[in-house]
Amino acid sequence: SKGEYKHFMLKETFEQPTVIKQCLEGRISATKVLDQAFGVKAADILDQVEAVQIIACGTSYHSGMVTKYWIEKYAGIPCQVEVASEFRYRHTVIAKNTLLITISQSGETADTLAALRKAKEQGLLASMTVCNVPGSSLVRESDLCLMTNAGPEIGVASTKAFTTQLTALLLLTVALAKRNGMSEAAETEIVTALHQLPGLVEKALALDPVIEKISQLFADKHHSLFLGRGPMYPIAQEGALKLKEISYIHAEAYPAGELKHGPLALVDEDMPIIAVAPKNDLLEKLVSNLEEVKARGGELFVFADESVNLYDLDDQHLVSLPTVPCCLEPIVYIIPLQLLSYHVAVLKGTDVDQPRNLAKSVTVE
Ligand code: F6R
Repeated sequence: SKGEYKHFMLKETFEQPTVIKQCLEGRISATKVLDQAFGVKAADILDQVEAVQIIACGTSYHSGMVTKYWIEKYAGIPCQVEVASEFRYRHTVIAKNTLLITISQSGETADTLAALRKAKEQGLLASMTVCNVPGSSLVRESDLCLMTNAGPEIGVASTKAFTTQLTALLLLTVALAKRNGMSEAAETEIVTALHQLPGLVEKALALDPVIEKISQLFADKHHSLFLGRGPMYPIAQEGALKLKEISYIHAEAYPAGELKHGPLALVDEDMPIIAVAPKNDLLEKLVSNLEEVKARGGELFVFADESVNLYDLDDQHLVSLPTVPCCLEPIVYIIPLQLLSYHVAVLKGTDVDQPRNLAKSVTVE
């Protein structure tokens, strides 16, 4: 039941601190990622991984995109990500000792399942699914499974499934990185951060009233542009997907550095620009992109670290987030974007839990 909440999506959004805890349960100690997190057969397989291929659709594809940044950064293993409907129908080349990872809330997405079957025929080291539904087709047909333990997700717009996928995939990243030279200190840093994650998500959720207020500025908009850099680019993509699927506002995401290669031409006072700006080494570059937007009359909505002073943008709409360890930025910064699309949809009066033309589980292609 929805309990005190008006929609399943809102309930599921607010469940995130709890389900992230559930996802971490029994998988980390105070300082380490436990090998048992990935099942008894895993250690042997993870020792041999030389390449990672991720396959997924929609929101699950976006968690794959974030994971690519993580795996290449921390584990130094090449990682490719592709939407399942493309992968399954093209001539693919699978590198030696590839771990193929499917990501899926339902475990029943037809294209993802077909892509897994095709890749198995081509020859893999092993397949793993990161999945939320025990006993689902992807779980049954994969060698390894990493359950997200988010509990049933009813709202069509995926929220808690996404953040638990990311949590589980960060654990997997560490498991691979340890085998490729990650120091104990670096592992401890990430695990310590993971212990703080439910609390940080809680703090992001506490921004709800601020975001609800801001959402009023979107209700009459027809288009929007989401910007991010690095692992925040897929977060911009996920924020744009949320907005379009439940509020029906056209939303596009760009890596901020691509702005001047075309989309800057779209910017005027009717085009809200939403940016995710945690405090990391790409912040300065992002801010200079945002200044370009401002100079062209664009209206900016910036979700930024509370400890950075964005003087030049302070006449724009700024929402401050707590300082977040770098590895957790994608998981924390998606929260305000989920809330934003929720409130915009409520204002527009759409069917938030059952948006038009969409199904929760896409079991036909
Ligand atoms: C977006 C959404 C869809 C799904 C996609 C994949 O909010 O829910 O884009 O993410 O259909 O579904 P799963 O993860 O079940 O394979």
